Amino acid sequence: MNENRTHTLEIVIGILATALIALAFGLYMLAEPTRLQQAQGEILYVQLDEAMTLYAENCSVCHGLNGEGIGATPPLDNPGLATMPFDDLYKIIARGRFDTAMPAWSKEDGGPLSDYQIEELVALIQSGDWKETGDRVVNLGLAPLIPFTAEPDPALVEAVGSLPDGSTLQTAIGIYAAQCVACHGADGLGTGIAPALNDATVREKTADELNRTITYGSPGTLMAGWSNALSPEEIAAMVTLIQRWDEVPSGIVPAPDVPIPTTEESIALGAELYSANCARCHGPEGQGKPIAPSLNVKSFLTNTSDQALQQIITLGVPGSAMPAWGDRMTAAEIQAIVGFIRQWEETAPEVAQPLGRPSGQGGPPWLRNQNSSTGTPGDKGGQQGMATPSAQGNTPGGGGQGQGQGQHAGMQGQSQASTLEALDWRALALIIAAVVIAAALIFLGFKSLKSARDNLPPS
Ligand code: HEC
Ligand code: HEC
Ligand code: HEC
Repeated sequence: MNENRTHTLEIVIGILATALIALAFGLYMLAEPTRLQQAQGEILYVQLDEAMTLYAENCSVCHGLNGEGIGATPPLDNPGLATMPFDDLYKIIARGRFDTAMPAWSKEDGGPLSDYQIEELVALIQSGDWKETGDRVVNLGLAPLIPFTAEPDPALVEAVGSLPDGSTLQTAIGIYAAQCVACHGADGLGTGIAPALNDATVREKTADELNRTITYGSPGTLMAGWSNALSPEEIAAMVTLIQRWDEVPSGIVPAPDVPIPTTEESIALGAELYSANCARCHGPEGQGKPIAPSLNVKSFLTNTSDQALQQIITLGVPGSAMPAWGDRMTAAEIQAIVGFIRQWEETAPEVAQPLGRPSGQGGPPWLRNQNSSTGTPGDKGGQQGMATPSAQGNTPGGGGQGQGQGQHAGMQGQSQASTLEALDWRALALIIAAVVIAAALIFLGFKSLKSARDNLPPS
């Protein structure tokens, strides 16, 4: 009698255990979509990260630092594009817009980007963070510093008219200022994204060669073909200009004074590069040394634009001890140093403070503090201290803020991921435990049923 009751109990427990398996499995299935969603979220995060670099390298020159558009080039940060169907947006980027400056980007259409890269750019336009994208552009040294079009100097254009075949040169300069300057730079001297056209090695190329490049472009690069936008005569005029640029007065397509944007990271990088490469001649606070002039002087900083600083540092000062850093550093690194030096302007002394005087008289306070404590270039506290004034100071677009937000979002994503992983692990353990217990109980139940039947007295 008693034994029979135990059997019943065991069977009931077995059934309960089976129900437990079903429940655990159900829970797992419930968690699965969230887990999948999370995985997709991580893919999106990686895609957006790659897309920001793609945007910096390929699109910012025309569509702006933060996707805000430049001149006649439309913005990409607009809600109308973000909600456009995926396929439509994809097609615009892949095939370009015929008869406009918007080139085709897909490899199929002669562009440089793979289908996957174009998908990433679509994701950026649909759900990217444009502030963070702007920071990426700056950190890579690819911020568009020259407006999409420039205004040629009228007096110099007039002067060009008196050169042989001057009207052809005038036409070409007008086209250059409208179509080519954003990439090939003021006076054709080149930028971080496109080579100089006003250059001896380019002048040596044959007219045919230059004509072909301008007509058909250079596949797989930013250099699009211009046969849709320019007539054969106009292209021939461009070739003439490129071959005779040494006759054209400099300053005809002037460099505008656009401040180089900075981010917290670029300032920190600039500080590090400055102490490693420049401090030994110009002094740790730019106060100068017998071998090299002071950079931390009001008059010098107010009279020298970011562009001019970048040019001096890139090309050096021939015939002096000042080396050309363009051979050893990237444009991004040199721009980072310019951003760092520019921070001195606000507190720079009117008169140079040569090294040797007690520090604390010259240079910004955050540097003074750093110097009196350690003076180590990579010092964490120093970098943070230096980053702060940039966020309050003349950082355009509040770049620092965007960075902070981006990192914050990234961290949130991570902590969410680990909770979900933990839940996933627990659900699995629960299932395994439940299955083992259930199996054992069911086995026990059957065994006792069998023994109960065996023990029944024959009727
Ligand atoms: C040489 C300059 C240039 C470059 C580089 C460029 N674009 Fe464009 N883009 C344009 C112009 C000009 C238009 C407007 C075309 C028109 O009038 O329809 C445009 C239009 C667009 C549009 C449609 C916008 C709208 O409101 O209809 C998208 C999307 C776009 N570009 C994405 C990109 C992406 C992504 C990249 C980088 C891979 C890129 N563009 C690079 C010049 C450029
Ligand atoms: C969106 C940026 C961009 C624009 C706008 C642009 N170019 Fe270019 N161009 C480039 C790049 C990048 C290269 C280098 C291509 C390569 O590496 O083969 C180049 C190369 C060239 C070359 C070949 C130079 C050489 O060393 O052989 C010529 C010539 C040229 N461009 C002319 C023009 C003219 C003329 C215009 C205006 C009508 C123009 N480009 C507009 C980006 C641009
Ligand atoms: C070997 C010593 C030396 C090093 C290293 C050096 N410079 Fe110079 N720098 C000079 C000298 C000398 C001059 C003055 C050149 C002249 O006009 O005669 C100069 C001039 C300059 C000027 C122009 C100053 C003015 O008043 O016109 C700038 C800007 C500058 N340097 C920045 C830098 C930066 C940034 C670095 C580090 C990446 C650097 N220099 C590294 C020696 C050096």
